[in-house]
Amino acid sequence: RFEQSLRPQRLQEYIGQKKLKSMLQVYIDAARQRRESLDHVLFYGPPGLGKTTLSGIIANEMGVHMKITSGPAIEKPGDMAAILNHLQEGDVLFVDEIHRLNRQVEEVLYPAMEDFAIDIVLGKESNAKSIRLALPHFTLVGATTRAGLLSAPLRDRFGVVQRLEFYEQDELQEIVLRSAKVLGVEIDAAGSAEIARRSRGTPRLANRLLRRVRDFAEVKYSGAVTEAVARDALNLLDVDTCGLDAGDRTMLNLIIDMFHGGPVGLDTLAAALGEDAGTLEEVYEPYLLMQGFLIRTPRGRVATEYAYSHLNRKKEDEEQADA
Ligand code: ADE
Repeated sequence: RFEQSLRPQRLQEYIGQKKLKSMLQVYIDAARQRRESLDHVLFYGPPGLGKTTLSGIIANEMGVHMKITSGPAIEKPGDMAAILNHLQEGDVLFVDEIHRLNRQVEEVLYPAMEDFAIDIVLGKESNAKSIRLALPHFTLVGATTRAGLLSAPLRDRFGVVQRLEFYEQDELQEIVLRSAKVLGVEIDAAGSAEIARRSRGTPRLANRLLRRVRDFAEVKYSGAVTEAVARDALNLLDVDTCGLDAGDRTMLNLIIDMFHGGPVGLDTLAAALGEDAGTLEEVYEPYLLMQGFLIRTPRGRVATEYAYSHLNRKKEDEEQADA
């Protein structure tokens, strides 16, 4: 799969997240020197910033396999026990959306993370007895959009907790150039900069836009991605100059039109958009907040002056003044 091949395999190839990268390098070197498995790692932050990629890099650098699963996929404690029991010494177990593990499944993880063991209860009630089964040493890499969604006992069992940040323009441009090279796409500096600018600080989006722009470049142009080609394609894709898509603009316009610019509570806003409040908060909002289109107040979300001017909207008092 292409998706897979765009992911860097080694820490050296990984672009951005400088601080996190240098910390991880130390932990990996230290664990390797001691011939131990790496401590459990929790990555949190908005989607598309590299949590899965970094987990794969950890496995590669440690010279072990990575097994991938997700919170919602594991329904029963026995399923988790089986996954753990099938790991090989030192393996990485990547659990995406780890905040969505149910309570019983989570409890299997506690002794597994702490003592590399699972407790199995045999028999019923007064005859019940618990036996402890030893597991191979492993590294749990958990990923979540917000660390606050994790239960305290689970969060406390991670030795390394790292937040992923949105990427800088120049880092995204470097990622686009690297991906273009891997995909064999001809692109120039201005073309890659244009894609980077509109990628919301998010490598996954940068790579997705690169593929779509390439389609346009090949079908409608000569195949090379220049600034003009990137602009034309991205405008057709409804991704604006700040990287906002139709959904982002709908949300901001809704705050302006239905709620006089805010403040509006998250749940009210979610209901008006027909979206899940958690998705709004964890997926759509972080970039809008970071870029200053939106602010959070105790009474709810407020569209900023910057949002009004970017969307070419006027404040109600200005409209009255005009009339
Ligand atoms: N592809 C996706 N994310 C990347 C990153 N951070 N560095 C290099 N290539 C990437």
